[in-house]
Parts: sequence; C-alpha cells; structure tokens
Amino acid sequence: EDGGPDPEKHCGHGRGGMGEGVKRKEDKRFITGRGNYVDDIKKPGMLHCEIVRSPHAHARINEIDTSRAMEVDGVVAVLTAEDLAAHELATMPTLMDDTQDVLVNDKVKFQSQEVAAVIAEDRYVAKDGAEKVAVDYEVLDPVVTAEDALEADAPLIRDELDDQEDNHIFDWDVGDKEATDKVFEAADVTVSEQMEYQRLHPAPIETCGCVTDWDPGKDKITVHLTSQAPHAHRTLFSQVSGIPEHKVRIVSPDIGGGFGNKVPIYPGYVVAAAASVVLERPVKWMEERSENIQTTGFARDYDMTGELAATEDGIIKGVRTDVLANHGAYNAVAQPSKFPAGFFNIFTGSYDVEAAYGSLTAAFTNTAPGGVAYRCSFRVTEAVYLIERMVKVLAQELDMDPAEIRRRNFIQPEQFPYESATGWNYDSGDYEKALDKALEMADYDHYREEQRRRIENDADKLIGIGISSFTEVVGAGPGKSCDIAGIEMFDSADIRVNPTGNAVLRVGVQTQGQGHETTFAQIVAEELGMDVENITVEHGDTDTDPYGLGTYGSRSTPVAGAATAVAARKVRDKAKSIAANELEAAEEDIEWDRGSGEFHVAGAPDRSLTITEIAASAYMNHPGSEEPGLEAVNYYDPPEMTYPFGSYIVVVEVDRETGEVDFERFVAVDDCGNRINPMVIEGQIHGGLAQGIGTAMMEHVTYDENGNCTGGDFMNYLLPTANEIPNFETGYTVTPSPHHPIGAKGVGESPTVGSPPAIVNAVVDAMAHAGTTHVEMPMTPDRVWENLAEAGLER
Ligand code: CDP
Repeated sequence: EDGGPDPEKHCGHGRGGMGEGVKRKEDKRFITGRGNYVDDIKKPGMLHCEIVRSPHAHARINEIDTSRAMEVDGVVAVLTAEDLAAHELATMPTLMDDTQDVLVNDKVKFQSQEVAAVIAEDRYVAKDGAEKVAVDYEVLDPVVTAEDALEADAPLIRDELDDQEDNHIFDWDVGDKEATDKVFEAADVTVSEQMEYQRLHPAPIETCGCVTDWDPGKDKITVHLTSQAPHAHRTLFSQVSGIPEHKVRIVSPDIGGGFGNKVPIYPGYVVAAAASVVLERPVKWMEERSENIQTTGFARDYDMTGELAATEDGIIKGVRTDVLANHGAYNAVAQPSKFPAGFFNIFTGSYDVEAAYGSLTAAFTNTAPGGVAYRCSFRVTEAVYLIERMVKVLAQELDMDPAEIRRRNFIQPEQFPYESATGWNYDSGDYEKALDKALEMADYDHYREEQRRRIENDADKLIGIGISSFTEVVGAGPGKSCDIAGIEMFDSADIRVNPTGNAVLRVGVQTQGQGHETTFAQIVAEELGMDVENITVEHGDTDTDPYGLGTYGSRSTPVAGAATAVAARKVRDKAKSIAANELEAAEEDIEWDRGSGEFHVAGAPDRSLTITEIAASAYMNHPGSEEPGLEAVNYYDPPEMTYPFGSYIVVVEVDRETGEVDFERFVAVDDCGNRINPMVIEGQIHGGLAQGIGTAMMEHVTYDENGNCTGGDFMNYLLPTANEIPNFETGYTVTPSPHHPIGAKGVGESPTVGSPPAIVNAVVDAMAHAGTTHVEMPMTPDRVWENLAEAGLER
C-alpha cells in the first residue's frame, strides 16, 4: 500500500533489503567445504548403480547375457528392460508426451543409450560388472542430422511407434503468413541468411545423479536428486512408479549448477529407484562427465533461416523465419507443453514490426534426446540470435550503422504494454536508454574510427564491433498458458515468523547457485522490516516446502519472488492487526513505515512496534480476533511474464594470420527491473557472459557419420576457462515490471541469451568490408581463418 520498493532509492534501509549488495549467506558453507551435494550422501548399506551403454548409435539388440557380470564378487543384481517390464518401468514418459526406454528393450537409438544396469556393493565393482555384460548388437545405419533424417530413404528410427512412417515429429508455425508475405513483396529491401545454432550441452560442474532409499517400514521412497524442480519430479515419480505421491519424498540438496540440464527425468533415476524398491537397500547412481554430455538433455540444435523486409531507410517491416530442429531419438524437449518450439516465437525481438511469420519442422535423429532450456527461457536464445544477427545483416545491406538501425526500430517506452506481431505482451522497456549507455561505456565512435584506420592501413589485425539489443521473456506461467506435463506453472512461498522475531521462508523453487538463500531473504527483509540475517530460506524438500514448479527459465524471481513478496505482505497485514491490539488503536490507524520497518499509530510515530515485538505478541498476547502465530502462504500465478532486456557491445580484434579472435572490450548493460541484490546480479551476468563466449567461440556437441559422439567429453567439448574470459564492463538501467509486486524481472539468463549474437556480429563486422555476412558458431580459429580466406582477407 506504500507503493512497494522505490527503484530510485534502492537503499535497503540498512537491513539487507532490496538493492543492497548483501554477501551470499550460502557461501560460508560452500567456501569452507561444507556443501552437501547428492554424491556426498552416504547411507548405511548403500549400493551403487552403473549403467551399461551402447557403443552404437543405431542397433537392434539380439541378446543380453548378464551371467558373467553376476559372477563378479560384490555384484548384487543386473537389470535389463525385461526386469523393469515386470514392474511396468521399462519405459517412461518424456516431458513432451513421448515414451523413452528406461533400458533399451529392442533397438538402440543413440550412442551411449542405457542398455542394462549393474547394482553392486561399491562403484568399482559395479563398473567391473558392467564390463562383463555381453550384448549382441545387430548394427543399423544411423542418421544424425535433421536434414538427412527427413530424406525419403532415411532409416526409420522410431519403428516401434504404430503411426510413425518417417523421422518427422511435428510442424509448427506462428504469425500471419499472408500478411508477412505481402510485406515482403512490397518491401524496398529484403535480406536472408542461413545460420546454425549448434548443439550445446549445459555443463554443470556437478553431473546428474541420485540416492534412492525405499523404506519398507513406511512404504515410502526418499530420493536425493539433482533436481531443478523437486515437486514436479515428485508428481512424475509417483505417476511413473505408482507409489502414491505422499509416499515419495524428493530432496534436492545443494545443486552444483543446473542450467536446464536437471529439469528432465533420466533413466538412471528410474533404474536406481526400481533397484532400491526391489532390493530394499539405498542405491546411488552418479553420472560420469562423458555420460552427462552424451546422454542427458542437450540444448539448441536449430538450423535457422532468417529474413527481414525493410524500407530503404532501415525501417523493418517484416520478419520471416524457418527452422529445422534436431530433437534426437525421442521428443524429450523440456518446455511448457503448449509451446512445442518453446518461446522461439519471440523472434521479433526488441523491434516494432508490422508482420511476422515463423515455421519449424522437428525431426528424430540417432542422437541423444533433449532440447532443454540451457540458461534460457525455452528457445528464446535461438530467437534472440536470429533477430540480432539479421539486424546486422540488414545494416550491412543498407550500409547503415548497426546502432542507428536498432534505434530506428525499437519499440518505444510509451508503446508498453506492447503486443508483438506473434502475440507476446511485453510489460515494459526502454531499449534506447540501455543502448545509449552501452555505446557510451564502450566508446563506440572511437572503435569505429580505429576500425576504419586498420582497414586503410591494411593492418594484420582487424577490428570488429558487435551489438546485441536483446529482449528476453522470463517467468513462466501464467498457469493458463504454461504447464509442464499438465502442472500449471505457478510458484509458492511460506513464511513463518518465530516468537523471537526471526523467520523461515520456504519456497517452491530450487537454487542451483543463483543465491536464493540470500536474495529471497532480502525480499522478506524489505517487506517485513526485518534484518536479512534473521531470515533463513529453505527449499528443495518436498516433505516440507510448498509445491512449486522449480527453477529454470529465470522464473524464480518473477514467480517465486513475487509469491515471497505477497506472502510477506500477508504477514504484514496480520502484524498490523496485532499491533492495533497492542497499541490500543484501530487497525486502520496503524501505519507501516518501509524506512524504519516499524508499525506505528497514524500521527504518533513514537507509539510504534517492531516486527520482533509483534512476533512475540503473536504467540504470547494475540488479539482474540486473530489466530495465534504469524505466518502466511502464497501461491502466485503470474498475470504475465516479465521482459528483461539489455544492450551488449563487443569489440574484437581478428588476427588475419591465425584466425584468432581477441576481446578488446566487452560491455553489458542489463535491465532486470528493480534489482534485489546488485552483487548477485553482477555474478549472474559474469557467469552468463562466460557461457555466451563458450557458445560463440568453443562449444559444440558433434557426431560423426556413424553416430559416434565426437564432442562428448571435456577434451572435445571445449568450455571456456579464465584464460578465454576478458574483463567484463557491466552497467544497468532500471525499468520496473509494472505487474510484479516488487517490480523485478528475471536476470540469470540474459547474458547467455544476449551475448552470442553480439560476439558473432563483432567477428562478422571485422570482415564486413570484404563482404562477409555470417560466420557460424563456434568461431574457432580455423573456422574464422576459413572465413577470412573466403573474403580474401587472410594473411
Ligand atoms: O530462476 P533463476 O534464479 O535462475 O533466475 P533469476 O530469477 O533471474 O535470479 C537469479 C538471481 O538474481 C537470484 O538470486 C535473484 O534473486 C537475483 N535477482 C536480483 O537480485 N534482482 C532481480 N531483479 C532479478 C534477479
């Protein structure tokens, strides 16, 4: 009722509320080695599970001989699809309505697919046992690209499906085709570019795993799980296993990074749970790195064509795109079920465009299934790459400055709330402000001048300047349009204030390193006038936390953050009633002061109570009109998503002799609405930019023509290290979300989403004078050198 936190002040009132760079509470245990991850969990009598995987990408299984494995001392059981079928667990549903083998029953569909499982007294014995499982394979021809998979003579991958006659999964489209075609026909200029968003793998430090523990005394299973969505996973576990949901407890302890990789359910979890129930002993399964990269949810793998229609002076009239999507061997994309192409349909980006049309075809291939939202909101990364690359292509065609062309097309601040040509309702934005700030920080004009100078001097190293002015969409729900496996995408918070004035906040989302134990406590501190040190945040235990849909797609702050603020305000309302009783005043005369955090009688500021004093009264002297205690719950179904944005400017130096790319400047201006913790935000931006550099320069899950995963370990799947990361210069603007209770938008994914096109635009920009319009990612030196050579720029 006091208008919420003030974006201009952002002072936090010294109690660690909104806007204060409070040090992360969780770091004490992490930096002193006291974190508790799934693999740290050891239970008495615990067994270990090792999965036997197929060396072939496409092969029929004639026979599995487990007898020699069973002879290994310490091996307790060897499971195959046949054993699981006896418990109706041979297959499991994916998050997109497909059915995936838990252990292969008949035909292997991708390399390293799960074929059998060995359960043993320790992990080494389990591995020895796995080596002794003999599988007779009849090798079949594989197909690894979506394009090849859709050829008429391509081998049929999913021959177990009744109606499946080819490898086509679905077609999808959005927008007004006719209107868009008309705009293109009438346009002064049209440009087109084909680009690949290569297959990536989220690479959390901690791989996936679980410890499953069936308690035959309580008929209850407890699963410690590397889960980004414990509650949704509990519901799915219950549905798949038939164990009633109240007899399933999922615990996500500390999680060592998720990035979307820990949203799906994987066969290893199901096998370990089945083994625990059958053997009545705890069972641990923990992936190795190569198992994680080769079999769990990948990201991207979109082949995209982009087209823009514009006037001669650079006003974009229409956007058209067509995508070929490689979904792997199963349709196991992790995204809201009504969005088969995720949020790709936000491909008009930050621009006010008259007409837009997008279409997509998805195909099965003999590669691992996936399509997870790798640090992004369900394919928004691909959409941002497409539009931000295309704007650069158009700028080149028209010989216009890429900053100027953006400025001419931005949705203007007064146009918000803005409905895009593909039906998104943008909440707020001021794109030009962010771009101007970035241009100033980057000293843009100076580098344009330097670029010209180097071209004139035929210098060995060329300068390129890349811009990306991206808009994200984060914070799924609302529940009416967004669900995961039918469960609506709301989130929740439960605040309990203790008699001594401290509090426990429980939330339905699950941190994987984002600092929720600090930032969510800050929201409560802000809204209740408490000190942040007096608030403990708990999450990740389905027995105690309120039901929520979990953390991915930067939805925690937009949804659970909102639930936290609303629950805190409910507590505040009750506190007012208690204060009225204590101060012998009418409830409507009690005012709450955000600055001091105190409740006082209107016009008499010295007749006041702190939240600590009120908490004591709630348990020791509550008014008869109120129940004792001081707590509240909120389940928040957001009215809309939030639309964070930013402008990134990257300056690179491209070596004409080696194709090496050096970052001269890396400027990132972000706007995530009202900021809870600037220091946490800075950390999120740094991490995300590092991942953006990995995407643009190094990372790629590759396959050879036999379906061997040739990019399936850290020797071949290259992650950036401190050596590859330049100094980041960050800035911000604040455009609050009008519908979020504390005006906040998400931020965790903006840098991963926004930076790859800025980096590619910079490298292209260095060669643009010689006619280069595109360089594919990852821009390894050999690839850059090839592009230099094609443009006649090589040394
Ligand atoms: O869902 P996820 O936690 O991955 O993403 P997020 O909601 O964007 O939040 C990432 C971290 O940044 C959390 O600790 C947030 O509380 C914090 N944050 C913030 O301090 N201010 C914002 N306006 C948005 C996020």
